[in-house]
Amino acid sequence: MIITVTLNPALDKTARIDRLRPNALNRLENVIVDAGGKGLNVSSVIQALGGRSIAIGFAGGAPGDELLDRISGRGLEHDFVRISNPTRTNLKLIDRDGSLTELNEPGPEVSGAEFRLFEEKLLSYAAEDSIFVLSGSLPAGLGPDTYRNMCRMLHGRNAKIFLDTDGEAFRLAMEERPNYIKPNRYELLQYFGIDDGESLGEAELLSLCRRLLAKGPELVCLSLGRIGALFVHARGAFRAAALNVKTGSTVGAGDAMTGALAWGIEHNFPQERCYALAMAAAAGAVSTEGTKAPDRILVEKLLEQVRLEKLTSQAAS
Ligand SMILES: Nc1ncnc2c1ncn2[C@@H]1O[C@H](COP(=O)(O)OP(=O)(O)OP(=O)(O)O)[C@@H](O)[C@H]1O
Ligand SMILES: [Mg+2]
Repeated sequence: MIITVTLNPALDKTARIDRLRPNALNRLENVIVDAGGKGLNVSSVIQALGGRSIAIGFAGGAPGDELLDRISGRGLEHDFVRISNPTRTNLKLIDRDGSLTELNEPGPEVSGAEFRLFEEKLLSYAAEDSIFVLSGSLPAGLGPDTYRNMCRMLHGRNAKIFLDTDGEAFRLAMEERPNYIKPNRYELLQYFGIDDGESLGEAELLSLCRRLLAKGPELVCLSLGRIGALFVHARGAFRAAALNVKTGSTVGAGDAMTGALAWGIEHNFPQERCYALAMAAAAGAVSTEGTKAPDRILVEKLLEQVRLEKLTSQAAS
């Protein structure tokens, strides 16, 4: 069973605007509301591939009710802890030339008692064959060690952990040796405190991935946006170029990758099939609008285009 964790979900409000003007009244058009959160994106991709997951996290107030209604409407299984403070609402403004401005709330304060309820729920799903996907930001009041503590508890029950987060939360959670990680270039460089890494080539990136691998994960998937991805594990490494697709929205491409990898790993697919699925699902997510998950037929079609190249042991070491 895959359990996706979304500690700080949001009602995402996306609106069109002619031109964003500061210090002026801006009128919004075509306001669309949807349930947002990286764990929820992961659950949607797993569902699109024909799999099953349970989404857990925190939901509060009227926005929390609406969030859960919308997740149910999408046919996703969920089991959120209800909290007294309201779930946040995030505003995304797309102006006429397509540029995106995001206004994100920090998220609700979660009380100690509410967090303990969540921990009980988390542990109730933990078993040897469960994979927990921990992704996204933390709500106010939860410290950066939250994912690390969750990793420790879950590993205590022999569950597997797929971590996809950034900054201090990523750095601390790495101490508990998550099983699978999917940083992007920015997150990788931030982890190693490299400020000027824009020009780093593949050999250097690969060597940073191997340093991450040495800290415990079985798999490091480094996503590199339009360039593609590197998949690095103890026995070798693969490179895959990004597929050539018409861009709808790149938001959530990384979540699609995480979801497809988690699903493939759950099914014990051979590693190369897992990586190919990840590339096809990510390309599918890029070619669909917003964070909408690509459908399975599209992913199957894109799979035919994926080319994985095994990197020589010299390049990979
Ligand atoms: N413009 C693009 N064209 C084709 N494929 C892309 C493009 N952008 C991303 N991808 C695919 O999606 C994968 C994940 O993208 P990216 O590295 O941007 O993830 P991310 O930064 O974690 O994204 P997010 O966290 O917003 O979901 C890439 O490895 C690549 O295969
Ligand atoms: Mg990401």
